[in-house]
Amino acid sequence: MKCLFALTFLALAGQGFAADDATIQKGEKVFDYWCATCHGPGNLPGTVALQTKYKGAKPALLSERTDLIPPVTKTFVRKGVSIMPFFRKTEISDADLDALAAYIARNNKAPTR
Ligand code: HEC
Repeated sequence: MKCLFALTFLALAGQGFAADDATIQKGEKVFDYWCATCHGPGNLPGTVALQTKYKGAKPALLSERTDLIPPVTKTFVRKGVSIMPFFRKTEISDADLDALAAYIARNNKAPTR
């Protein structure tokens, strides 16, 4: 167990929020499949709700956000919020969620970059 914790720590510490292009492309596919129906451009429930919530202080489109770090995205996806459903691991696997969160975080100015 100790070893597993150490490995997890190393993986998280080393990774920062920078991801390679293949991961980001995979994440974009996951986003288009599961999220774009509500968070894509246009008069869609997620985009409209975030436009109302932030009133333009943050982009209404998740794909244009620069502040959503992977742990935050993952928590919303696994727990849901308001009318947004949560997603099970049988729908979006942990690996797919890693890629999805990396895609949404791709424009973050993370200090580890
Ligand atoms: C059925 C429509 C729907 C789907 C599908 C959906 N969402 Fe959402 N999502 C929403 C709505 C609506 C909100 C705003 C909830 C609120 O705060 O009122 C939201 C909020 C969020 C937030 C919080 C943003 C913030 O700043 O408050 C994140 C992150 C998010 N969604 C990510 C995702 C991801 C990633 C997916 C795909 C796995 C996804 N959502 C799929 C409707 C959806």
